[in-house]
Order: sequence, then structure tokens, then C-alpha cells
Amino acid sequence: MREPRHTTIAPSAARLTESLRDIGYDFPSAVADLVDNSVTAGATRVEIVIEYAGADSRIMIADDGCGMTANGVNEALRFGSRRPYGAGDLGRYGLGLKTASLSQARSLTVLSRGGKRVTTRQLSLDTIIEFDEWLVIEPAPNSVYDRAKEMLGEGTGTVVVWEKLDRIFQEQKPEGGWARRRVEKLAERASEHLALVFHRFLEGEVVPKVEIVVNGEKLRPWNPFAQDEPATKRLPRQQFELTVGDNTGTVTLDRYILPPRNAFSCQSEFERLSGPRKWNRQQGLYIYRADRLVQWGGWAGLRGIDEHLKLARVALDFSTDLDAAFNINVAKMRVGIPTQLRQMLERPIHEVCLRADDAYRRAAGPRTTDKVRVKAPTSVDGGVTLLALRAAAMAVGESAALRKILGELPNLSPDIATSLGLHAPASGEVDESVA
Ligand SMILES: Nc1ncnc2c1ncn2[C@@H]1O[C@H](COP(=O)(O)OP(=O)(O)OP(=O)(O)O)[C@@H](O)[C@H]1O
Ligand SMILES: [Mg+2]
Repeated sequence: MREPRHTTIAPSAARLTESLRDIGYDFPSAVADLVDNSVTAGATRVEIVIEYAGADSRIMIADDGCGMTANGVNEALRFGSRRPYGAGDLGRYGLGLKTASLSQARSLTVLSRGGKRVTTRQLSLDTIIEFDEWLVIEPAPNSVYDRAKEMLGEGTGTVVVWEKLDRIFQEQKPEGGWARRRVEKLAERASEHLALVFHRFLEGEVVPKVEIVVNGEKLRPWNPFAQDEPATKRLPRQQFELTVGDNTGTVTLDRYILPPRNAFSCQSEFERLSGPRKWNRQQGLYIYRADRLVQWGGWAGLRGIDEHLKLARVALDFSTDLDAAFNINVAKMRVGIPTQLRQMLERPIHEVCLRADDAYRRAAGPRTTDKVRVKAPTSVDGGVTLLALRAAAMAVGESAALRKILGELPNLSPDIATSLGLHAPASGEVDESVA
């Protein structure tokens, strides 16, 4: 067959690079995307320096991973780097290093040692715009890059330096108190974010364990599930096999009911577990891709945030085989739950919400109990009926009797029990004190 007549239309480097700055990162998620690269490179230590110096303020992210050769660094700086991706790989698009960096800075410099020598290369937005070419340059040595080299030490590793932080200063003057406080605040926000999204790596739940240091301070992992608290309840794990198009993968659900304030081992732990967005907005699904948290806070459209559900936190894990099904975005900040999975999740999520609501009511005491309702998903009529029964039983002080009745229903009328969302408790299920 004759090849169709064609014309090659190369994109404008200047226009495209500028547009890609707005792909959706904020400062903490941009830093996290670089830490993804360090983790993928096998780093055990990532050191982040967020340094205020007026217009010369800079961010440095150094790791002791496998590093890169000169060719490797050039390829890494290509928009759409070429490399194969294995299962569990945190990378996917070949874009993160460039898009995350340029979303915050006009200049990105990579210093890396994969073998004996350190290679230094720079991608500068101003140069790309001036020449309208995808240019990578070798910058002249200076004291900043000397310091970055020192951070590399003698072994393999990579340092990424962000300079000309125009997006961070948002058209304000980079000198003065406001700018200084902004940089300090960003360092705090980045620390909080990294302590959460990489908590499994920091805890050593994933091998190799990674240490992350921000401005000299080693991050303490923030695990949302208060697993060390004796009063935390965990419902039995649920697993779902999901096939979407040609891809099959596993989704795992771990449901927790955290203790109310008075059942925490100490007040400071209760405050700490409140999290960056505080209890109410930290409820809901925590969605992990390859052990790295990508989305949290709220129920991903399965139900609304509700004060009475603030003790419910649920880990949802999916494998990278399901990337397409979950529609992971370039910034690794957002996913969409596949429709098929939404239906599968309805009942287990409803169950944890009921139990969390109950734990909340018990802790709140009898005066508030009769005002409280769990919002059932509108599509589950049985769930609404069950709630109405529970509320009515509570109003007349017969909750214990209703519990007995509901316990017997699956044996006597299994169909009605199923339509109410009841099921026979499996062995090892949650302690009845939460139900
Ligand atoms: N810290 C690092 N250590 C070693 N290699 C790195 C490092 N950072 C980047 N690389 C290399 O550069 C390539 C490009 O990184 P980039 O973040 O742009 O894309 P990616 O990680 O492959 O995919 P994604 O766009 O999903 O992040 C990586 O595939 C990796 O080979
Ligand atoms: Mg990456």
C-alpha cells in the first residue's frame, strides 16, 4: 500500500512548555512527583532544601538512588522520556520531572552520578522560549551547583535544583517579609504532604525504607489509620478483582473506625491524627497507587462529607495495571473510581460508615444521639430502611432489642436481611462494641 502523503508538524517548544506549566500541580505535589523519581531510583534517603534567598531562592531535592549517566540525564530531560515501566513503577508518563519542576520554577538543573562522573544539565524556560527549541544546556559552574555536588557525596545519586521561582512568588516581589514567610510556609506544607503520601515508605512498610529530610528535619510518617491506638477498629479486608478493557488488577479495601477523642490513648495523639485538613475533612477514602497515596479527603463521590462519619477512614489500594481504569493524572494527584468498582464499594463503605456513625454517637452521649443520621447512598433503599429502624429503636430506647432482631433476621428471612444490607458476620469480624 502506498504511504499516505504527510507533513510533519512539530509542536512549538516555547508554546507547549509554557502551557505545560499549568498541568495542575501545587508546590507540595510537585515536590512529591520528584520524590517518586527518587523512590523509583532506589533511594534510601531524600534530602530536600527549601531555601529563601530573595530572587535567588531555590529548592534542591537530592537522593542517593542509582543516579544517571550523561545520556540518562539527557533522556530524563526529554518531555516524554523513553523507558520501559514495570509493575509497581511510580512513574508512568515520562513527564513528571519536567512538568513538576517547571510548574514552580523557570529553571531546572539536574546533577547526577550514575557511574564515576557527575553530569550537570539544565532546562531553562527562558532559553526554550528564546530559541523555540527543546534545548538542554550545560550550565557554567557556580557555588549553587558546587553545593549540590556536595550533597551527592561520593556515591551514586541525583540532585534536582529549581531556580527562578516565579510561580512561588506569584508576581510579588521576592524580597521582604511576605516572600520569606511564603517560602517557610511552603516548606511546612511540603513536609506535611510528604509525611502523608509516602507514609508507607517512611514507615518501612515498603522496602527499601526511605528517609525524607526537609530543611534538616527528618519527617515522621503520618499514617491516617491510627493503627497503634488500641481502640482503633479494623473491619475485615475486602478484595476485588477488576477487569477494565484489557487490564485486570486487584483492588484492596481496608476499613478503619478511629477512636473518638475520649478513647484515644492521649490528647496529643488525637490532635496529631486530626491531620492537615482536620478530622472532618480527613474522613473517607485514602487511595493508594503502588503504595503511594494519590487522593484522600472525602468519599470520591460515593457519599458526602459528614461530621458524623469523621471517624471513618478507608484505605483503597490499586495496582499500576489498573492505571488506565483509574485514570491517574500526570501530577498523580487525582484518580477517578471506575463505575464497576463504585457499585462493588457501596455496601462495604456503607457498613464502615454505619459503624463510624455509631461510634461517634456513643462518644457524643445520649443528648445528640437521636438527632444523628447516617446518610445512606440514595440507591440503597434497604440501607435507608435499616437506618430508620435503628433511629426509631434508639428513640424508644430499644437499640439492644433491635440488634437482637437484626442478628436473627439473616437466618429467618435471608432475602429481607440482604435487602437491608445485613449479612452473617464472618469469623474474626469487628468487635461488636462498635456496632
Ligand atoms: N532522581 C532520579 N534518579 C534516577 N533517575 C531519574 C531520577 N529522576 C528522573 N529520572 C529518570 O528520568 C526519567 C524521566 O523522569 P520523569 O519524572 O520525567 O518521568 P517518569 O518518572 O518516567 O514518569 P512520570 O511522568 O509518570 O513521572 C525517569 O523515567 C528516570 O529514568
Ligand atoms: Mg516521574
